[in-house]
Amino acid sequence: MSGGFSYSVSELKNLFESVFGGGRELRVFTAPGRVNLIGEHIDYCGGKVFPAALTLSNTVVAAVNGTDRVRLYATDLKEIFEFSLGDIDGAKGLRWGKYQAGVAKELKEAGCRLKGVDMLFHSTLPFGSGLSSSASIELATALTLLSFSENAEEMAGKLDKVRLAVLGQRAENLFCGVNCGIMDQFASAMGKKDNAILLDCATLSYEYVPLELGDYSLVLANTCKKHALGASKYNERRAEVEKGLKMMHEALPEARKAHLCDYTEDEFTAARDHLKSDPVVSARVEHVIRENARVSRAAEVLKSGDLFKFGTILKEANDSIRYLYEVTGDELDAMFEEAGYFDCCLGSRMTGAGFGGCTVNIVLTAETERFCSGLKERYEKRTGITPEFYVCSIGDGVRELT
Ligand code: GLA
Repeated sequence: MSGGFSYSVSELKNLFESVFGGGRELRVFTAPGRVNLIGEHIDYCGGKVFPAALTLSNTVVAAVNGTDRVRLYATDLKEIFEFSLGDIDGAKGLRWGKYQAGVAKELKEAGCRLKGVDMLFHSTLPFGSGLSSSASIELATALTLLSFSENAEEMAGKLDKVRLAVLGQRAENLFCGVNCGIMDQFASAMGKKDNAILLDCATLSYEYVPLELGDYSLVLANTCKKHALGASKYNERRAEVEKGLKMMHEALPEARKAHLCDYTEDEFTAARDHLKSDPVVSARVEHVIRENARVSRAAEVLKSGDLFKFGTILKEANDSIRYLYEVTGDELDAMFEEAGYFDCCLGSRMTGAGFGGCTVNIVLTAETERFCSGLKERYEKRTGITPEFYVCSIGDGVRELT
């Protein structure tokens, strides 16, 4: 019940020296993945989201290499990928390393005088499982390259962690062609141990909310179904909600709002007749507006310590993302439904972009073993796929390890 195989920092340093050669000062950086508790597919609609950083992460051992090249090695790929700082676009053809190159390009454009760096990556995040391994690579790379740049001190003053998150998102949007919102990069940058982050994606104002779960734990259930259609379906949803915003403007011209999440549930009801002409868009808009309201309710309930109510809201949110937003799929649906057979689980929902990936479950700590083995058996029987489980610890955001 844990993430990928873990090396100690000193083992990673030894590995770095055997891959890239020794004799240089090594620095170590780390950036986490995230779980989103609630507020799904609304970060790009100006909504509120409620993620938390995991202790599952990407760790980078790095040193300057005296060239104009960035050389990358990952402990699971066992191969060096590299690009030149003079031709970062040339990295678009790399099989691995595009997130890093995209970040280098953004840092350069922001004014960083980058140096050639050797970087060894080690991930404990399962790839393609909806836990933001890409955001974690982006933030770890951003802090590494920034820290080694010629004008590091000046740039560190200009690029605080929130700005690094925005820079990571831009890299993913512009260099990698994934039109993601800000949630994942923000959580990877700004995560805080044992806290969730209530983030307003329209303004980037945020509040830490202690995740005090008492006798309960967060358990991630990985469907182990990779999200193959992820990027195209993701961009399709974004187009649908853009149309939804236009239709809300037409329906309520006097109450024109900048973001879909600026509309209240009553306004949605008032606009319903107009939205009827496109039932798919209407369903997407309904999810977005109601999900945004649910996030605020969920955060209040969590602050008051009512975990039972919190669990109920999570289940409600899963129905919405499943039936109105339609981004779950058979495996996530199976994992959600089968979790419903366990009394020790107060609530469950898919987390992340969907079309595969994980559910997040609130489970009585004393029963986590029974929950995971029982759910494994039921899910495996139903889908033929062997799932994985991780009992989550909530950790800090991107940082240098001393
Ligand atoms: C992905 C994206 C995020 C967010 C989620 C869905 O993780 O990177 O920006 O849209 O999907 O909530």
